[in-house]
Amino acid sequence: MYRTYRYSPPASPGEAAIGAKIMAQSFVVAVEQEQTYVDTLGHDHLRLVRHGDDILGGLVLLPMGQWFGGQRVTMTGVGSVAIAPQGREQGAATFLMGAAVQEMAQAGVPISTLYPAVQRLYHQVGYGLGGTYCLWDIATAQIPEQRPSLDLYPLYPIALDPHQLLQVDRQLSWGQTHPGGLDRHPFLWQRLVNPGEGDSFAYGLGSSQSPQGYVIYRQNRDRYGPTTLTIQAWAAASQVAIASLWAFFAQHRSQIDRIQWTGGVVDPLAMALPEQRASLRSSTQWMTRIVTVETALAQRGYPHGLAVELHLDIQDPLVDTNQGRFVLTVRDGRGQVAPGGRGDLVVPIDALATLFTGLRSAQALRTLGRIDATPAAASLATVLFAGDSPWMADFF
Ligand SMILES: CC(C)(COP(=O)(O)OP(=O)(O)OC[C@H]1O[C@@H](n2cnc3c(N)ncnc32)[C@H](O)[C@@H]1OP(=O)(O)O)[C@@H](O)C(=O)NCCC(=O)NCCS
Repeated sequence: MYRTYRYSPPASPGEAAIGAKIMAQSFVVAVEQEQTYVDTLGHDHLRLVRHGDDILGGLVLLPMGQWFGGQRVTMTGVGSVAIAPQGREQGAATFLMGAAVQEMAQAGVPISTLYPAVQRLYHQVGYGLGGTYCLWDIATAQIPEQRPSLDLYPLYPIALDPHQLLQVDRQLSWGQTHPGGLDRHPFLWQRLVNPGEGDSFAYGLGSSQSPQGYVIYRQNRDRYGPTTLTIQAWAAASQVAIASLWAFFAQHRSQIDRIQWTGGVVDPLAMALPEQRASLRSSTQWMTRIVTVETALAQRGYPHGLAVELHLDIQDPLVDTNQGRFVLTVRDGRGQVAPGGRGDLVVPIDALATLFTGLRSAQALRTLGRIDATPAAASLATVLFAGDSPWMADFF
């Protein structure tokens, strides 16, 4: 039975505290930790769902960016979706997420991305699978010994300046070579340099005048288990830069037993090793929603050297302005969208997300019955959205 719910930001710090408490209980973390999270982020990032006077749950909106086709697409991350146990399985989360999508659409947000604990919930409001997030691991003894060909210099004192890392990240245009990569929210940068437990270390590659990459990592000594170096974030401008990172990690081998990192199922760090010695420990998939069709398709990048039109017919029961026919015109690697056209490729909004990120090709989606398209439109869309397998190293 669906009840009548309301959606809004917290009206007072007290309401934000109730939301934080429900999130803490739902994610099995200390209330104080969750309260600090929502206070640091700002209560204007919080949304609550109510039934009558009761606050039943909430979520957090994180405005940032994500790279697709070599271009930054404005993206709102959704996190901490939580409903108090007494309010569950009655449609509260579906209402909350639906209202959040409509709010984002009204604000013109192009896309939204999240990590689903319950995939069905997000499918119902138009999110589709977007890319991978994998945990990789290798014994340091398995890394070939060599000297880094690029210098590494400490980015100290790290706790003072996440902005410095952000600048290096921007200078390298790391995301341009890495579909799905995050242009992090300042809170996520802050969390990288100040994780709350243990110390973070950060090194630049090359020189500060001409950075070739960076790495941020933590170390953990387990009295009874392996001592681990966990890479929290990295970027590298070239294969030489990646090889220098590996050589740097190998230099930790007298005390560090294992190196761990998060990346993609097709992972550039793992693939830079001469042998397939790294193990894929776990793999999950994030989901993306095309919130505003016109801006999402216009902000993404496309292959250069094409001048083509793709005629889409989009089905979006939740956001009226996305519903119907659109023509995507691609020229010089950029796209423009106008209403109308023949509707050669009929696509529900969740499948459009999977196509948009490049996780599945239009031809594969057609074979699976997820889209309905003329053979010519399916093969054109396959080319337009093709790229490396999308992945993200950050969890939020
Ligand atoms: C996951 C959670 C937000 C769902 O809230 P809810 O209000 O019970 O969800 P809804 O009633 O709107 O259900 C939405 C859909 O998800 C399904 N669903 C809900 N809880 C589920 C669960 N634990 N496992 C699998 N499916 C679930 C529902 O059956 C429904 O699908 P249906 O309409 O096809 O039947 C809630 O259980 C919760 O807060 N859990 C702890 C925190 C968490 O895991 N949050 C999700 C982070 S991504």
